[in-house]
Amino acid sequence: MDWCLVHFLLSFLILVVAWFVLHHRSSSQGRLPPGPRGWPILGNLLDLEEMPHKTLCEMRDKYGEVIWLRLGVKNTMVILSSKAASEFFKNHDLSFADRSITEVSRVHDFDKSSVALAPYGSYWRVLKRLVTVDMLVTKRINDTAFVRRECVDDMLLCIEEEASKLGDGQGVEFFTAMMRLMEWNGHANLGDFFPWLRWLDLQGLRRSMEKDLGQAIDIASGFVKEKMNNIIQDHNLGSDEKRKDFLSVLLGFQGNGKDEPDKISDRDINIFILELFLAGGETTSSTIEWAMTELLLSPKSMMKAKAELTQLVGPKRKVEESDIDNLPYLQAVIKETMRLHPPIPFLVPRKATKDTNFMGFFIPKNTQFVNAWAIGRDPDVWDEPLCFKPERFIDSKIDYKHYELIPFGAGRRMCAGVTGASYASPSFGLAASPI
Ligand code: HEM
Repeated sequence: MDWCLVHFLLSFLILVVAWFVLHHRSSSQGRLPPGPRGWPILGNLLDLEEMPHKTLCEMRDKYGEVIWLRLGVKNTMVILSSKAASEFFKNHDLSFADRSITEVSRVHDFDKSSVALAPYGSYWRVLKRLVTVDMLVTKRINDTAFVRRECVDDMLLCIEEEASKLGDGQGVEFFTAMMRLMEWNGHANLGDFFPWLRWLDLQGLRRSMEKDLGQAIDIASGFVKEKMNNIIQDHNLGSDEKRKDFLSVLLGFQGNGKDEPDKISDRDINIFILELFLAGGETTSSTIEWAMTELLLSPKSMMKAKAELTQLVGPKRKVEESDIDNLPYLQAVIKETMRLHPPIPFLVPRKATKDTNFMGFFIPKNTQFVNAWAIGRDPDVWDEPLCFKPERFIDSKIDYKHYELIPFGAGRRMCAGVTGASYASPSFGLAASPI
């Protein structure tokens, strides 16, 4: 027999035996949550079909609110009810405070500088504090409202025409690269499920990521350099205090000398800035697109949204961000949109830092946790869960801090942009667009 074939068969046999041993060992330490049985090696990869968030939601009737899957080598726990999510975030948030790192996010060492992927520790703490305390606080959001006003005006004039005016075309290149990064990130990568296949990069995702992330980092570092020169100039002219924006805060950061880095390196700043663009761009635009789609499908809701806008803003002036607080129906439209179509349906996966007992189940260390789209459609919490009914949020106390509605995640690793992104940006984008 051909030696290659023998080699292949032997490797296959070893993997099958290893699978049985590992599977038996983890189950013997306690009861794992129920779930479809799966295949040797592949585990449940074939059970997920084309739209995993929908398939998993449908599994709830058969297996219950907490499901166990093996995706190649990755142990995965899926939570499908608001009750289980509440138990998870209230009592187990810390045990799942680390992230599961994918193969493409290791490209250019992105994961080492990222705040969203950082291990739960001092680097993450410093950067998260800077975003939530220095960047996305109400005052700074209000101070920069005029920038978003200009952007929306430009969008209304004509995105392409405006984009082509960006001189050397770097803005266009940057956003094209960003769109591609989102795409490579969103692909299921065989290298994540079968680490021994990583080096082959069968889908070419690593190569594509290297090219597009490299380009985006170069452009972002150009922005940062330009900004640094401005800061130096302002400093020389003695006018630096007046113009302290977020980038200046990052550049001027000095650690406490104990558990914090002394300063944030240029490389970390470049990646951090890039990451904020990534985190806030597609999520906000997908929310606006879904809201428009739902309103077009629901003429009654569309009429109510328009009537509210006409009454408050009228035909003579443009809608402003400061109007949003007085547009409760529009805010309800955004909440209802995010309930049905959370832009990140599985959230950003977290990983168990130690063996954990969750709702009577044994969850081994390194299990990745994905939180399903199903929570916003939990029939135990939502009346007619599949219907688009913004009215359910009028006079309701439910907001993004409740475990029934978690498009921004919850707990320690909750979205850092929730203050601005939760209602201001999408509502403003929607209100200002020609619906
Ligand atoms: C509609 C808009 C947005 C949605 C739906 C969204 C959603 C999310 C989700 C689901 C997570 C993971 C939460 C978890 O693990 O529990 C996250 C994390 C994060 N988001 Fe957002 N996001 C949005 C906008 C933004 C914006 C505008 C920014 C900043 C400019 C931002 C910055 C971040 C950061 C830094 C993290 C990592 C937090 C951590 O790991 O501690 N996001 N976001």
